[in-house]
Amino acid sequence: MTIEPYETSDDTPIHRPMGRTLNDIWQGRLTRRTFLKGSASTAALTTAGIALPLSLAACSDQNQHFSFIEIEHGVDETHHVAPDHEADILIRWGDPVTANAPTFDPDNQSAAAQAQQFGYNNDFIGFIPLPFGSPLKDHALLCVNHEFTNDDLMHPVFAGVADPRTVYSREIAEISMAAHGGSIVEITRDKNGRWTPVANSPFNRRITASTTQMNISGPAAGHPRLQTSQDRSGTKVVGTFNNCAGGITPWGTYLMAEENIHGYFMGTLEDHSEARNFARMGIPGQFYPWGLYDARFNINKEPNEANRFGWIVEVDPLDPTSTPIKRTALGRFKHEGCETALCPLGRIVIYSGDDQRFEYLYRFVSDNVVSPDNREANFGLLDHGTLSVAKLREDGTGTWLPLIYGNGPLTAENGFESQADVLIETRRAADLLGATPLDRPEDVQPNLQTSKVYVSLTNNSLRTDAQTDGANPRGPNFWGQIVEISPEAENHAARNFTWDMLVVCGDPAEPAVNASWNSTTSENGWFACPDNLAVDPSGRLWAATDQGKAWPKTSGTADGIWALETQGELRGKGSMFFRVPVGAEMCGPRFSDDGETLFVAVQHPAADGAEAFPGFERKSTYADPATRWPDFKPDMPPRPSVMAIRRTKGGPVGG
Ligand code: FEO
Ligand code: CA
Ligand code: CA
Repeated sequence: MTIEPYETSDDTPIHRPMGRTLNDIWQGRLTRRTFLKGSASTAALTTAGIALPLSLAACSDQNQHFSFIEIEHGVDETHHVAPDHEADILIRWGDPVTANAPTFDPDNQSAAAQAQQFGYNNDFIGFIPLPFGSPLKDHALLCVNHEFTNDDLMHPVFAGVADPRTVYSREIAEISMAAHGGSIVEITRDKNGRWTPVANSPFNRRITASTTQMNISGPAAGHPRLQTSQDRSGTKVVGTFNNCAGGITPWGTYLMAEENIHGYFMGTLEDHSEARNFARMGIPGQFYPWGLYDARFNINKEPNEANRFGWIVEVDPLDPTSTPIKRTALGRFKHEGCETALCPLGRIVIYSGDDQRFEYLYRFVSDNVVSPDNREANFGLLDHGTLSVAKLREDGTGTWLPLIYGNGPLTAENGFESQADVLIETRRAADLLGATPLDRPEDVQPNLQTSKVYVSLTNNSLRTDAQTDGANPRGPNFWGQIVEISPEAENHAARNFTWDMLVVCGDPAEPAVNASWNSTTSENGWFACPDNLAVDPSGRLWAATDQGKAWPKTSGTADGIWALETQGELRGKGSMFFRVPVGAEMCGPRFSDDGETLFVAVQHPAADGAEAFPGFERKSTYADPATRWPDFKPDMPPRPSVMAIRRTKGGPVGG
């Protein structure tokens, strides 16, 4: 994807019972039932941990295949879902979130209103049943990231303007900052299975780039390289932005990944104290001119501010007054997401991709175990642990290389004086360890039922034929692939793993593409550019795509969601389930705990590749967008929205 001013992009340039049983116990069962209970539950855990392997093994065979009728590749002004399913709009950009939020009025937007309304470009979706600790009934919290803004499609002031820079203003910048971050929204389900937001719920909250005070914790907190004129302590920062994917911890906190943070800074690296570090991160990326209005986004006025972004933010959604915390132990890079698993001992394991061409795959393992009976005892878990980076060898084996100050090349000789330095410059530390450069690692999704881990490598147009290897078999690679990792002994904390290719994406009918799919995959079942992944409660894998402006070339279809078989004779078979409107990207897929709802995030409708949309064939503008989804009203711009998909007659989504 190319970068344009005021527009962001993801990249510029056969089960053994033990592992899955423990994970199932910890993550799927005990978490909900015991976190808010007393020591009696701890005893139950111990008993269950011993007793359950056999019983769970008996019911664990994951040979449930998909039975829905797939939809066709295509592109038009609206969304499409598989027959016998319904997709409802749940919440749209601008809809009220906090109590007394104003009704959305595109002609009278303000930063103050936006900070109370649903933000732009919904991406990650987390789902937490209420009350926390109980099985899902009909209340839950949705935790939704708002990754970036398409300002020129949001504001009437850009209508008919050839160069958006000529009318960009402080007000636009402040609305943009307020439209970034996240939303926490209570939702409730009626007897027909339809979810709706709960107006004025005390849980409802907006987190933004400009209004939310955050703390910084872990090994880099307080380090001089994190200190600024506004925060001499290096432990407090306002806001988060470019929150792409994320995760929900077993103790019910919401993890927001900070991804393309480079795009929010302007200035020059000449004679800059952080020149080497910033250059490795692409800072200043200058997507947004926020630095014209707030000096902290100008690296020459505030040289350390950019070191305070690129982290994982942990939020307690059950306490709307809680202060979000940037957890530096998980490293600083362009975090795509941060999905969690548990090792057999109960330590939390977090996987995170660094989404840029030739970047790496990371894993964090906590030092301490998750406490199932004392929720608050887990609030410091992400401050102590080991961050590692992946090496994937040609022979299908792999190793996690720990990023520990003083080990190997991570010493003063190479500019690392402490663990804080290693974490602030995670990418450079990983370079020195010899990690494997991958084709843009996007979402990394552990399947807690099988202990397999799925890694979306979305594409890499810069890889040459000479640079190909086992996990990155094509150069250039316009279509991406999904790698399946098997941790040794089904232990997510193990040092070694094996890996295999699940699918090599692109059109299997085009020999030059060299795609690899199960031979039963239909002409609609293949896709390109996998991004977000989800596993449903039956252990089945689903993949969302983000082709960006390249969709006319990579597949010719709009982005969407495909079901993907991972086991047995059908392994590697895709089936198209959902399609977004023209110009949109598919984000977020997240299942309710009962598997009867699939929440999806439709990002930036009308934006990408409208020039190739048959019958439209021009760039979308505020006055003339390729679609006005989902409202289709002449005075309403296209609005990124979260949708809730269910089967018309009930039961698990996907059949
Ligand atoms: Fe924000 Fe890497 O997708
Ligand atoms: Ca993504
Ligand atoms: Ca993406």
